[in-house]
Amino acid sequence: MRIRTPAAVLVTAGLLVASLSACGQEAKGGSRYKPDEGKGSTIGLAMPTKASERWIADGNNMAKQFKKAGYKTDLQYGDNKVENQIAQLENMITKGRSLLVVAAIDGSALTEVLQRAHDAGIPVISYDRLILGTENVDYYASFDNERVGRLQAQYIVKKLQLGKPDKGGDKHNIELFAGSPNDNNTKYFWNGAMKVLQPYFKSGQLIVRSKQTRMNQATTLDWDGGTAQKRMDDLISKNYGSARVDAVLSPYDGISIGVISALKSAGYGSKSQPLPVITGQDAELASVKSIIRGEQTQTVFKDTRKLAKQTVAMGDAVLNDKKVKVNNTTDYANGKKTVPAYLLDPVSVDKSNTTLLVDEGYFKAGQLK
Ligand code: GAL
Repeated sequence: MRIRTPAAVLVTAGLLVASLSACGQEAKGGSRYKPDEGKGSTIGLAMPTKASERWIADGNNMAKQFKKAGYKTDLQYGDNKVENQIAQLENMITKGRSLLVVAAIDGSALTEVLQRAHDAGIPVISYDRLILGTENVDYYASFDNERVGRLQAQYIVKKLQLGKPDKGGDKHNIELFAGSPNDNNTKYFWNGAMKVLQPYFKSGQLIVRSKQTRMNQATTLDWDGGTAQKRMDDLISKNYGSARVDAVLSPYDGISIGVISALKSAGYGSKSQPLPVITGQDAELASVKSIIRGEQTQTVFKDTRKLAKQTVAMGDAVLNDKKVKVNNTTDYANGKKTVPAYLLDPVSVDKSNTTLLVDEGYFKAGQLK
């Protein structure tokens, strides 16, 4: 049980404010008393899709850790359909969930439903993906998204040995993939990668034969592997008659899998025509195995257990009027406010350090065989 100050609700709360003040609890121009908050209350967890194993892990990790901290949880998946996620959030609001943790399917589509959450005095944590265009998002928990893009691009630079004096004159062909256009993370990954790659485009060491160098030419709706595969098929057939693809910037493991399928269909993956350098993100099991087999080259590991832990700590603090720990208050402007954020560090993984995933207990050794 606690006192909060989310404002709007208090149009009808004159009496309540009076009674709170009488108990010596301050009503800062709009406090209210909400008996179903704090320990024992139910947290609404709105995740985007079960199509990717990471979101299943995110949901399960949060459910587990919120339970450990003394809460109940209501975990819902939106099947990558915006309208499902909105309906699920509406339902959570109606059921009086004490806090909403949302990994948005479309970061810009939640303004109305989050206004309802605000009116009901329910705080909101934006999980992994920033929710845009609303003041009604209290905190953001994620990884350093720009750094993810930088890690992918730096890996390509290193693998192709760009910029080394002895290899400086070499030219390499690269194709670029971006994430879903409705996910705010997409531009952070892209911008991070472009900062690293730009000098090599300029020097002519990296060439995009398709000329599809703008983010909006490279996006992949819903991060869908099949969509990426079709685009890669098309890029190869239109631009790589006798030329070879040397690298593919892929922002996510599911996209990398699609890209690899297209490359294999075009004859890549043999001794005489090895696969290009292919990045990824999320350290999903299928991709880690692919890295071990020598197909995908790299991924970016973002430990979903740590993100869950951070989010649970944030939620617990919010619900108990404690200070919420953040480490970034400048970079995540959502069009209405700069959302205070806690960003974790992503880690680059390739064949040389997949054991890290076992050492950290993310996978069991047997799973990687
Ligand atoms: C992003 C997330 C990535 C990846 C992608 C596709 O929002 O930050 O780690 O999971 O969605 O699911």
